[in-house]
Parts: sequence; structure tokens; C-alpha cells
Amino acid sequence: PLRIAVLASGRGSNLQALIEACSDGRLSARIVLVGSDRRQAQALQRAESAGIEHFSLDPKAWPDRAGFDVALFRRVAESRPDLVVLAGYMRILDAAAVEAWQGRMINIHPSLLPRHRGLHTHRKALEHGDADHGTSVHYVSAELDGGPVIAQAMTPIRSDDDETRLSERILQLEHQLLPAVVRLIADGRLQWRQGMPWLDEQPLSTPL
Ligand code: GAR
Repeated sequence: PLRIAVLASGRGSNLQALIEACSDGRLSARIVLVGSDRRQAQALQRAESAGIEHFSLDPKAWPDRAGFDVALFRRVAESRPDLVVLAGYMRILDAAAVEAWQGRMINIHPSLLPRHRGLHTHRKALEHGDADHGTSVHYVSAELDGGPVIAQAMTPIRSDDDETRLSERILQLEHQLLPAVVRLIADGRLQWRQGMPWLDEQPLSTPL
């Protein structure tokens, strides 16, 4: 089965969705490691409860981002993952780490990319008056939230939506979307070749 390392900074509900997809057999994969930049991250407790190896590193213990990411990805590499999943990992990655894991690292981002990169995506979608909002899973590239999009899930924005209501709805979509994308990779249907994603032997030019 596909070996997955997950990086998460907080609550870890997307990690939980992956854990459950693996344990109930929807996903033929094994989460071999969970790493965090925050010692208090609930994601680490979820890993502990599921019996998954986990660790945290404190960025403040390194003089710069590059050094921290070297240490972080050394730990990740030791677990020999086929795939690294950023599931609510909130630190920008150093270019060298991104380069080293190109095509083997995906991120879930709570917007319909290329709309609303960065933080506070639900607020931005509301303030912008968007008719719909959603979430994207994409390969990680040097450009922040800019790598090739694999798949998206969408919900209409309602007149009574606020940031909380909208974010809850997006989160439910994410818990479906992320395991579904990882499943495509685990099943060998989605591959990274020649610097781009391929689905069922065809270049994936528009998101699923
Ligand atoms: C998710 O909504 C994820 O898309 C977002 O953080 C949340 C993590 O929730 N990620 C980003 O904003 C990445 N820039 P979780 O910790 O409960 O999975």
C-alpha cells in the first residue's frame, strides 16, 4: 500500500478523514508518519490515538526556514513515504524542500484555486461577493498555492452565509475530496510524469 506522511499544524480533521478512509478500507494506503510544527496540534493527538508515529519540531529552534525544513523533511524521508500530504500545514515551505518532493507532495487549500490563495479564504470569498466557494487539492510547487490543481469541490454561497457557516461546509467537502484524491494516487490512476499530473494515462489539464 501507498505510504503516506502527513504534515498538519492544527485541528487535523483532514488527517482524521484520511485515517478513517484507511481503516475502513476505502483507501489502500498506510499513514506512516504525522509531523507538525506545533507541539500542541490536535493532529498529533489524533495520530497518537490511531497508533501512528508522530513528531513535532519547533521552528523557533532553527535560525531560518531552510534549516527547519531540512530537519523536518529529514524526519519525513526517514519514514520512506511515497506521498506527503499537507493537511492544514500552515507554514510556507522552503524552495529546496518543494523541489525535492515535487510530484510527491500535495496540499489541500480551502478555495477554488486560482481564486483566493493564502489565508482567510472564506472571508475573501464572502467579501468578494463570489457566487460559489470550495476547496482544491493540488500538487505543491514553488509558487504558494500555485501548483497544478488535481480536483476541486464546490458549494454555492448562500445569502445567510458567514465565515463560520461557510468554513464548516467547506470542511465537510474537504473530508470527502482529500481521501478521494489520495485514493486516485494509491490506485495508480493519478501519476506525476514529465512535470505534470496524468490521470488514467492522459495529461490532466483541467481539475477534476
Ligand atoms: C483546512 O480547511 C485546510 O484546507 C486549510 O486548513 C484547514 C485545516 O483543517 N489549509 C490551509 O489553509 C493551507 N494554507 P484541519 O486541521 O481540521 O484539517
